[in-house]
Amino acid sequence: MEIKSKKSEFNHFSKLATEWWNKNGIFKTLHDIQPIRIKYIQDTLNKKKLNKLKILDVGCGGGLVSEGIAKLGADVTGIDFIEENIRVAKKHANHNKLEINYIVKDFEKERLTSKYDVIIIFEVLEHLENWKSFLEKIQKNLKPKGLLIASTINRNLISKFLTIDLAENLLKWIPLNTHNYYKFIKPEELKDNLTANNFKKIKFSGLSYNIFKQKWKMNNNKKVNYFCSSFLN
Ligand SMILES: C[S@@+](CC[C@H](N)C(=O)[O-])C[C@H]1O[C@@H](n2cnc3c(N)ncnc32)[C@H](O)[C@@H]1O
Repeated sequence: MEIKSKKSEFNHFSKLATEWWNKNGIFKTLHDIQPIRIKYIQDTLNKKKLNKLKILDVGCGGGLVSEGIAKLGADVTGIDFIEENIRVAKKHANHNKLEINYIVKDFEKERLTSKYDVIIIFEVLEHLENWKSFLEKIQKNLKPKGLLIASTINRNLISKFLTIDLAENLLKWIPLNTHNYYKFIKPEELKDNLTANNFKKIKFSGLSYNIFKQKWKMNNNKKVNYFCSSFLN
């Protein structure tokens, strides 16, 4: 298996851009886990309302998470390198009368000048060419004591089987070729990298799917999908 290039990541997500808000479409899983993701953000911040918090949603796609936190009062900026994603996100936010600052930007190449209280990177790290240099860069956009929240996929044979062989190839829950095993990230690799980049209070939680109850839930099992939160020193 080859490591997927940035161009093929771009082409892959470009083709899916109109699907973001279809709850039963190819992004169904992201819609299903939306309440868990929003609660994770609230719990990590220990706040129900996110009023006045300046939050950057990196790789925002069609704006699922951006809208969720904007509804809780956050001052949200969402960035994505696919113009069509941002167009879809803007249109949906307008329709819902939400004010979100959406920008087309390749954050691996371009600089952001503002500083944020919180940076969210959900399901993005495992699509990047170099997640380590990305983390090194993005911390410069956090205010002192700012919070970084990420979710990604662990790298082991179980995660390969469940996310690629089963969810993509067999069940077609996720579009084919969404993931690449070699880009998955072990929690200990993420932890080492965050520590080296001056982050502290690094915490992990797992996210698993119960096939019998057909429900997602958070727990301590980080074998496949997991969340990570950490504060800048
Ligand atoms: C799996 S989607 C996750 C979307 C969203 N964060 C969510 O969880 O609902 C990954 C997103 O990252 C974006 N992305 C990947 N690499 C990027 C880059 N270098 N700059 C900006 N956006 C990028 C893709 O366009 C895509 O929308």
